Amino acid sequence: MPSGMASAQQRVDPAAAVDDPQIELIGVRKEFGDGRGHRVVAVEGADLNVGDGELFAILGPSGSGKTTVLRMVAGFEQPTAGTIRLGGVDVTALPARRRDVNTVFQEYALFPHMTVAQNVEYGLKVKGVARDERRRRTSDALDMVRLSGEASRKPAQLSGGQRQRVALARALVGRPRVLLLDEPLGALDLKLREQMQIELKEIQREVGITFVIVTHDQDEALTLCDRLAVFNNGRIEQIGKARDVYENPANRFVADFVGTSNVLDGPDAQALVGRPGTFVVRPERIAVFAPGTDPVSGVRTVDATVLEVIYAGPTTKIAASTPSGITLTATVLTASTWLPPDLTHGTPITLAWPEKALHQLSNEE
Ligand SMILES: Nc1ncnc2c1ncn2[C@@H]1O[C@H](COP(=O)(O)OP(=O)(O)OP(=O)(O)O)[C@@H](O)[C@H]1O
Ligand SMILES: [Mg+2]
Repeated sequence: MPSGMASAQQRVDPAAAVDDPQIELIGVRKEFGDGRGHRVVAVEGADLNVGDGELFAILGPSGSGKTTVLRMVAGFEQPTAGTIRLGGVDVTALPARRRDVNTVFQEYALFPHMTVAQNVEYGLKVKGVARDERRRRTSDALDMVRLSGEASRKPAQLSGGQRQRVALARALVGRPRVLLLDEPLGALDLKLREQMQIELKEIQREVGITFVIVTHDQDEALTLCDRLAVFNNGRIEQIGKARDVYENPANRFVADFVGTSNVLDGPDAQALVGRPGTFVVRPERIAVFAPGTDPVSGVRTVDATVLEVIYAGPTTKIAASTPSGITLTATVLTASTWLPPDLTHGTPITLAWPEKALHQLSNEE
């Protein structure tokens, strides 16, 4: 068996995921009646652990069961089978109001006649929290979402992103152990959405509350989360860190849904790859040459030893020394197919460049 298969399966193993889970789903199944005597299976065999203070994303296409999972964790929906634990306690039969969980829905309804501060404070008032503490916690929550200056405005006087942050402050003010967010940025335009993704991440880090965020947008999931679960048709296809899921997709669905992939299978693909099996290759891993190019001829290579490796996100800078003592610096894409792993001072490497990359200076000998 290819080693990639085994590790992909391990990644789906929820028990291996986190030591001290805040949220646990064990064999959770949810059936709905469709109103015509048929059953719809919305979620099946869901095993999932979310760690304390983790930012976890649930990613999947429309109808894959994301909202249903969230609603079962919140307690608005009862599983047909299986167990849900919060902080190690079985809450499967516990009503929503007795769970230490808050939810931000996509259609967050702010009270239009109340100010921003009154909207945020409202839940504490209902709970009977004393006035001074209410004021203090409201002001803290507004600070957190950077809306202190807008406390006395009405929702209609705010931008979409600001309204979204009021909804977030309202959910945070009760200091839940777990915050569930269902497509929280769905109503925002792309620019604001990207900005709010970064803000959400910052806020989550500051408050340290466990966040579970539902999205059908793979970019958003990869940007935001520590780990994610990919849902399809009510089933979990893969659980793992964003980078693991992107680089080692467990199956064709994940390879295609999280980013785009070239899928190689069938006899022609086997001839191309040189061995049987199904393979995926990410588009950014394919280099493009002029037709008829033999990429080996016309390429100059030299052995060298690494001096420094400087990681700069999308690119990595590598300084290396040749046996004759020439220092060369290469800037490569961090995702480059040809970059050996674990480069460090002293690692032997080969540097290569096409002949045509050599530019002769006219004024020198
Ligand atoms: N109350 C309900 N009664 C009957 N079927 C339901 C109910 N809620 C959800 N379903 C069905 O369960 C499946 C999963 O729905 P769910 O809302 O969880 O999907 P989703 O992943 O959140 O989709 P979206 O991205 O469109 O919000 C769908 O087939 C849906 O029609
Ligand atoms: Mg949904």
